[in-house]
Order: sequence, then structure tokens, then C-alpha cells
Amino acid sequence: MAREKPQDFRVRYGPWALVAGASEGLGAEFAAQLAARGLNLVLIARRADALAEVSARLRSAYAVEVRTLPLDLAREDLASVIAEATDELEIGLLVYNAALSMIGPYFTISLEDHLREVAVNCRAPMTLAYLLGLPMLKRKRGGILLMSSLGGSQGSALLVNYTATKAYNRLLAEGLWDELREQGIDVLTCCPPAVSTPGYVASAPKGAMSALTPQAVVNEALAALSKGPTIIPGWTYRLANVVMQRVLPRKSTIKLMGRVTRSMYQKSS
Ligand SMILES: NC(=O)c1ccc[n+]([C@@H]2O[C@H](COP(=O)([O-])OP(=O)(O)OC[C@H]3O[C@@H](n4cnc5c(N)ncnc54)[C@H](OP(=O)(O)O)[C@@H]3O)[C@@H](O)[C@H]2O)c1
Repeated sequence: MAREKPQDFRVRYGPWALVAGASEGLGAEFAAQLAARGLNLVLIARRADALAEVSARLRSAYAVEVRTLPLDLAREDLASVIAEATDELEIGLLVYNAALSMIGPYFTISLEDHLREVAVNCRAPMTLAYLLGLPMLKRKRGGILLMSSLGGSQGSALLVNYTATKAYNRLLAEGLWDELREQGIDVLTCCPPAVSTPGYVASAPKGAMSALTPQAVVNEALAALSKGPTIIPGWTYRLANVVMQRVLPRKSTIKLMGRVTRSMYQKSS
């Protein structure tokens, strides 16, 4: 509990945090809540202007340093770019939040787009966890937080590759949690349901599925960081997850997920 106090949080996870996918939505909220806890920030996203806005807001509100690194996390040379940009910084916390979410029947999405989704959602978090986690291991101190999704607990029609990439993040984090939990490094995967971010709203889901706020999700995730390995924000969704994973037969869970996704995203003919 004491770790949740700003000073202790900074000692445990500072002095720098890197947030990948920080220009809006959950990533911008992670950046704000980490700045409020006194961490300096490296913020990554593609849109330099949006990153600059987030950075200016945080610099004026909190006494922290903020650096922006506009780049596409799908780029082939990601490892060397990140290594060079973070070389002189002591990064004690990685939040990998960026994701590409291709919605539609599997074969209507190009192979190129599926591969880009794997690059942003799997290759990049694995690369950053490796590059930033190794120095944490040497310091015996730090934290890694990977964003998964409630959708990553089972496959889903119309989100076939996306849900598979989210399962990858969950398992990557869970395995790392067990390897690192006695090495001073906290690892957490956050599996939210729908969250009212600009990205989610822009995907224009139909129906009245209630969405959590980014503030609530980030609050719960940061409070759970020292506990790990998995947090599902919102008690009703934790309950729904128990039913879907432990009560319903697997086929029913997959079909239910598909029905919900179709009701939100299937175009009416
Ligand atoms: N919102 C939900 O309903 C929901 C539900 C479950 C799980 N999640 C997970 O929560 C995380 C955040 O969701 P969100 O709704 O906040 O996402 P979002 O609104 O789509 O924002 C994603 C962030 O990632 C950045 N990004 C995307 N592609 C990138 C790339 N190729 N290179 C660099 N940056 C990139 C975006 O900035 P730029 O456009 O500037 O690059 C943005 O800052 C994701 O991992 C998502 O899977 C979200």
C-alpha cells in the first residue's frame, strides 16, 4: 500500500517512465497520472502535434520533464531507435499502451494490415519489454505494464487477429511477472472492457455497451501494478469474466463474444 504514495512510487518506478501510445485516450491518461506521481516521461506515438499538446499540458501542470518521440512502433528498426533514444535515461517503468485494432471479417482485411497489427501489438511490446526490462533487472527495480483487453481471453469474430494479439500481451506479461516477481520488478497486464477513448468512439460501435472512463481504468491499473499479474478493471466485468472463463463452455464463450462484436460492428445489409 505504501508504494501508492507518490514519493514511494517515484522511487520504485522512476525517475523516468516510457509510455508507448501516449497521444490520446488511455495512453495520455497514463502519462497524466504518472506525471502526477512525479515521474519524468518519454512519450511515443505517431502524431508529433498531439504528443506536443500532451507534453505541454503535463509540463505546465507538474514539475516533471517530458520528452516526446514521434515514431511508428511498427518500424523495422524499432529496437535500435528505442535503444538510442533511451540510452542515457534511467527508465523504471514501461507502459505499452499503443495498439492497432483492425475490425472486420478476417479475409476482408489485407495480410499487410494483419502484419502491421502484429508488429504494433506484439513485436513492439516484446521489443520494448526486452530493451527496457534488462536494465531494470540489473537495477532490481522497476515495472512493466502491458495493455491487453477483456477480448484477449477468447477469440472473437470480426476481431480475430486483434484478440489474438491481446492474448499475446496477456501471456507475455503473466510469464514475465512470474520470472521477475522476486527480482524487484512488477509486471501487470490490464484487460479492460470498452473504454470511452477517442479511438473507441471513432470505431463507431453500435448499441449501448457501457464503457469505462480512461481515468477509472488507469486508476485501477496503477493501483494494481505492485500486485500483478492481471487486472480487469470494473467489478461487473471481473464477474462477467469469471462466468465466461469458468462457467460457460468454451464454444459458448467464443460465440457470445462473437455475437456481442457483431452487434457492435457488423454492417447491416
Ligand atoms: N478503448 C477500448 O475500448 C479498449 C478496450 C480494451 C483494450 N484496450 C486497449 O487499450 C489500449 C489503448 O486503447 P485506446 O482506445 O486508448 O487506443 P487509441 O485511442 O487507439 O490510442 C492508441 C494510442 O496508440 C498510438 N498508436 C497507435 N498506433 C501506433 C503506431 N503504429 N505507432 C505509434 N503509436 C501508435 C496512438 O497515437 P497516434 O495515432 O498518434 O500514433 C494513440 O496514442 C490499447 O492497447 C487497446 O488495445 C482499449
